[in-house]
Amino acid sequence: MFGKITKELFGKTQIETPVFQYTLENKNGMIVKALNYGGIITNIWVKDKFGKYVDVVLGFDSLEEYEKLNHKYYFGAVIGRYANRIKNGQFKIDDTIYQLALNDGKNSLHGGIGGFHTKIFKTSTEITPYGPKLNLKYLSHDGEEGFPGNLLVNVIYTLTNNNELIIEYIAQTDKPTVVNLTQHSYFNLSGKGCIYDHKIQINADLYTPVDENLVPTGEIVPVENTPYDFKQPKNLGKMLEKIDYDVNFVLNKSKIATVVSSLETGIKLEVSTTKPGIQLYTGNFLDNIIGKSGNVYKKHSGLCLETQYFPDSPNKKNFPNVILKKGDIYYHKTTFKFTVEQ
Ligand code: BGC
Repeated sequence: MFGKITKELFGKTQIETPVFQYTLENKNGMIVKALNYGGIITNIWVKDKFGKYVDVVLGFDSLEEYEKLNHKYYFGAVIGRYANRIKNGQFKIDDTIYQLALNDGKNSLHGGIGGFHTKIFKTSTEITPYGPKLNLKYLSHDGEEGFPGNLLVNVIYTLTNNNELIIEYIAQTDKPTVVNLTQHSYFNLSGKGCIYDHKIQINADLYTPVDENLVPTGEIVPVENTPYDFKQPKNLGKMLEKIDYDVNFVLNKSKIATVVSSLETGIKLEVSTTKPGIQLYTGNFLDNIIGKSGNVYKKHSGLCLETQYFPDSPNKKNFPNVILKKGDIYYHKTTFKFTVEQ
């Protein structure tokens, strides 16, 4: 037995398009649920140290709420075409200036108001020897939200029998463009309350500081002697007394990018990725919103670990290149592995 996948109607969009929820279950009983709307991960059920199942991600109960409110939170969504901010929503490729839709003051955030978090993906499913797999496809047309090129996007969720959620991102274009895809799940490994009892380690010697609008200044600076030094595991609650986190870390070339764990449940999450950066966002803008099962999400109710290229790279020559050309294949892989510490 390699696990199973079931599909059910989750709701209908405002224009009556049916949206389905896929339930992937591995042979250990771990469950990941995801929608064909925005590729949204709605639930991740993991066993804690007492053998009790805990849902470790934030989200809403209904499609209506995702449609109405998720442009503020991006709960569980696939983010594209460009994760995080592009300054003034502008960039240049080969002497052509492209202007994106602005949805964050003067800047473009997470692909724009009609980013991938709002799109209906074509789906197919498969039970592989590793575990169940959900394949999501979307063709983003030339000019969508201002981005050049027809971009064919494929996001694959595989839930392995080692309790890993593997996310693969594949994209191809017919014209030079910029691409930076990520996943915007908010984790709370205690399943409720705030993330203050969480311990976090980030294998990054450097980070990219931001300006007052949360756009990178272009500097790449050492984390040493700053509150961004998570090279050794630290209690997040203590650190959050000083600052809120919403910043990109430059990952060291180590096997594991980030490790987070909850004292209460013992659930531990290890993140590894082929991407050069990770955004630690500690849910600073969660504003007492009512989420799943009536849970109220407030500041610090969850944290995002968005593996990515650095924000605003199209305008920063010293950041890794994010231009995808015709004939190139954008391929990235991020693994979220869940284990339990007693
Ligand atoms: C960004 C935050 C933003 C949030 C939206 C995060 O990825 O870094 O600045 O407010 O997404 O939910």
